[in-house]
Amino acid sequence: MENIMEKLTALCKRRGFIFPSSEIYGGINACWDYGPMGVRLKNNIKTRWLNALTRLRDDVVPLDAAILMHPRVWEASGHVREFADPLVDCKHCKARYRADELGCDPTAPDAQCPTCGMRGTLTPPRMFNLMFKTFMGPVEDEASVIFLRPETAQGIYVNFDNVRVSMRKKLPFGIAQVGKAFRNEITPGNFIFRTREFEQMEMQFFIKPGENERWFSYWKDERMNWYRSLGIRPEKLRFHDHGPGELAHYARAATDIQFEFGFGSDPWHELEGIHDRGDFDLTRHQEYSGKKLEYFDEETRERFLPNIIETSAGCDRTLLVTLVDGYREEEIKGETRVFLGLHPGIAPIKAAVFPLVKRDGMPEIARRIHDELMRRFEVFYDESGSIGRRYARMDEVGTPFCLTVDSQTIQDQTVTIRWRDTLAQERCAIDRLGERLTDLIGGC
Ligand code: GAP
Repeated sequence: MENIMEKLTALCKRRGFIFPSSEIYGGINACWDYGPMGVRLKNNIKTRWLNALTRLRDDVVPLDAAILMHPRVWEASGHVREFADPLVDCKHCKARYRADELGCDPTAPDAQCPTCGMRGTLTPPRMFNLMFKTFMGPVEDEASVIFLRPETAQGIYVNFDNVRVSMRKKLPFGIAQVGKAFRNEITPGNFIFRTREFEQMEMQFFIKPGENERWFSYWKDERMNWYRSLGIRPEKLRFHDHGPGELAHYARAATDIQFEFGFGSDPWHELEGIHDRGDFDLTRHQEYSGKKLEYFDEETRERFLPNIIETSAGCDRTLLVTLVDGYREEEIKGETRVFLGLHPGIAPIKAAVFPLVKRDGMPEIARRIHDELMRRFEVFYDESGSIGRRYARMDEVGTPFCLTVDSQTIQDQTVTIRWRDTLAQERCAIDRLGERLTDLIGGC
């Protein structure tokens, strides 16, 4: 599986999905740039997530809060005090570890450094806060310190009342947000699995106290079904319930949706966290801001602080799952065909249009088809190289359908649709292509 990660890193660079950040300067650890194909794939994932939550249901609304927030937010949220990992260094080889991932007690006399193998060289763990700091304004002093947000959730909590009042929302309702988050991770790695700058897709669902178990279980099912709807193999997904020692400072109960990524001693890793946060966040923000955040229930005439069920997904991690799960190698006549079995709904290109040869009017027809389809779908025109090479390039970026204009097209105004996964081919009339692709790709 380590091998697949290497193959994917190479494929992503070769085909314009993901590049190492600042590569011409030697790169910068754990930061990645999304290229043209990566941007499209990521946007499609984000749109699908937002559609599932805010378009296909009317009890969740979208928000886009600022990355830079008042520094008191992070005191109230507990991040200034609690958002820290135990850091261990090897005095001999300078390798750095998270104590909880080390697999041994670093203070034991015979504790061994996993990198250089030396014994007794590990430092005792020291707590390291993961928030990036910067300064707001021209003066760089303690008073102007602010943080890059380590999660998008806090932007939702501080806007709870703004959204509730402006949108006339009654409980239960949710607020969904997609946005960048930053963590100064001690052990980033495994391509885009753990990075220092990443995107989250978070939804906070505000409920009446006492309804926590019901909504927690409801959102677990909804979120698992969402991953399945992306075409991820169900046997590669599972829940992992947190025990008392694993719970984050804000959580009363937590479950991870895990995917079998394959790397590390335990191949299963977190993809999304679902948390019962109780009234922790609104209580703290009410206390630190001095602003009442209570909800008045008109039916029961009661005033209370809503509880929150959170669904917190990593956008980059979801994208990585679609790549790992979709990566296929197939032997055909002694040659290896590599393709990404991406769900058509998120594939960066839905259909490629090719003239079989660059003559007999084929390029002109293919161009016209491309220009017509581009109003409805992400399509791509390619006339360079052999047809086999063009198919291979599209297979590697996960394009589900290739449309080829050939000599029969001139006779009967039909083109070949070639399926990425099965290599099956069908003929379709040019004037029915839009309809046919809509059927094949499916809705949101
Ligand atoms: N608001 C709750 C929260 O942030 P989390 O479990 O710390 O919970 C949620 O993060 C999700 O964000 C994770 O399941 C993961 O998908 C993604 N994530 C967290 N840290 C990440 C990192 N350093 N790199 C990439 N994705 C990350």
